Amino acid sequence: MGTSSAPVVLATAEAAVVDAVESVAAALRVGVTVVTTPDAALAAWAGARVVLVGPDIAPALASEGVRRRPRAYLLGFDPWGVAPWSVALGAEVIVLPQAVAWLTDILGADDADACPVVAVVGGSGGAGASTLAAGLALAAAERGVASALVDADPVGGGLDLLLGAERLPGHRWGRMAGAQGEVGDVRGLLPRVEGVTLLSMARDAGELPGAGAVAAVTRSLARHHGLVVLDAGRTPWPAARALVRSAWPTMLVASAGVRAVASARAVVTALELDGAGVVVRAVPGVRVPPELVAEALGLELWGQVPFDRGVVAAAEAGEPPWLGRSRWGRAVAGLLETVLARAGDDDRS
Ligand SMILES: Nc1ncnc2c1ncn2[C@@H]1O[C@H](COP(=O)(O)OP(=O)(O)O)[C@@H](O)[C@H]1O
Ligand SMILES: [Mg+2]
Repeated sequence: MGTSSAPVVLATAEAAVVDAVESVAAALRVGVTVVTTPDAALAAWAGARVVLVGPDIAPALASEGVRRRPRAYLLGFDPWGVAPWSVALGAEVIVLPQAVAWLTDILGADDADACPVVAVVGGSGGAGASTLAAGLALAAAERGVASALVDADPVGGGLDLLLGAERLPGHRWGRMAGAQGEVGDVRGLLPRVEGVTLLSMARDAGELPGAGAVAAVTRSLARHHGLVVLDAGRTPWPAARALVRSAWPTMLVASAGVRAVASARAVVTALELDGAGVVVRAVPGVRVPPELVAEALGLELWGQVPFDRGVVAAAEAGEPPWLGRSRWGRAVAGLLETVLARAGDDDRS
């Protein structure tokens, strides 16, 4: 989360890049702090609202192995001058002068009042990512944190089915696909399930929203809730990918088991999840220690979720998973604490 008081930092000594950014910033009346050395860029990396890195500073920052953060961008007039550092920095590439409109969006977006957006990614099919995402949103609402659950998995089958909400009136993504730029409060348009605002994929052949619509609607939800939970699936759908990149924190749900872990490793690479935490879903009959799963994935272990037959039964009955006092419910409540703490830790304001 950033605030307007946190600066926009531009790290470059290239005059043409500085000029381009400053002219956009001036039009928006946004202040930019220009730093010209890798050390100064490193010092500003975590605390800035937005970080823009030029081609001269990018290699040094990348070799420092900085921690990924949302709203970090590489920019320059030559895409090949910055693109090689995109993966290492977890930063998207802004090519000047073509992408000035995008730069305007980035510098103009005021997310001072945006809540944390946690992305939940499944390491393999059926790992329990959607169920955990729903559980986190329900647990948040239960403890008084207004939450929204956003379906960003076009092949996940639709979250309304998971929550027994398929007959509730309100919009699904198909009706929101045209959203752009600054979107107002959309809460009134969306179904609510047990206090959770739900934005599900349409299960008919509804229009798939583009990356711009997904970002705009999610930003709006983040301004009107205390927590947004994204069910990001694991497909490399560009809109979900961009969303996962801008979300913080990110959680990977991995089933214990050799093949599930192999699959999860591929997902970590494909979606560039190296800053994510891992949650291990227990599987009956499989005794792989969660620490080992985390180690194999090279991710920090954030917790475990027990196998719970009640969860399967609720899903089959078309009811939201019941948190109650079950072991599953307690595990979800614990993970919610972790998520909120992580979001707070890395509060870049
Ligand atoms: N903790 C759990 N214990 C038992 N079954 C679970 C658990 N979490 C999810 N499931 C079941 O596993 C199946 C896949 O879950 P889902 O959340 O859709 O996975 P994903 O989104 O990762 O593909 C569903 O039938 C669901 O009810
Ligand atoms: Mg799913």
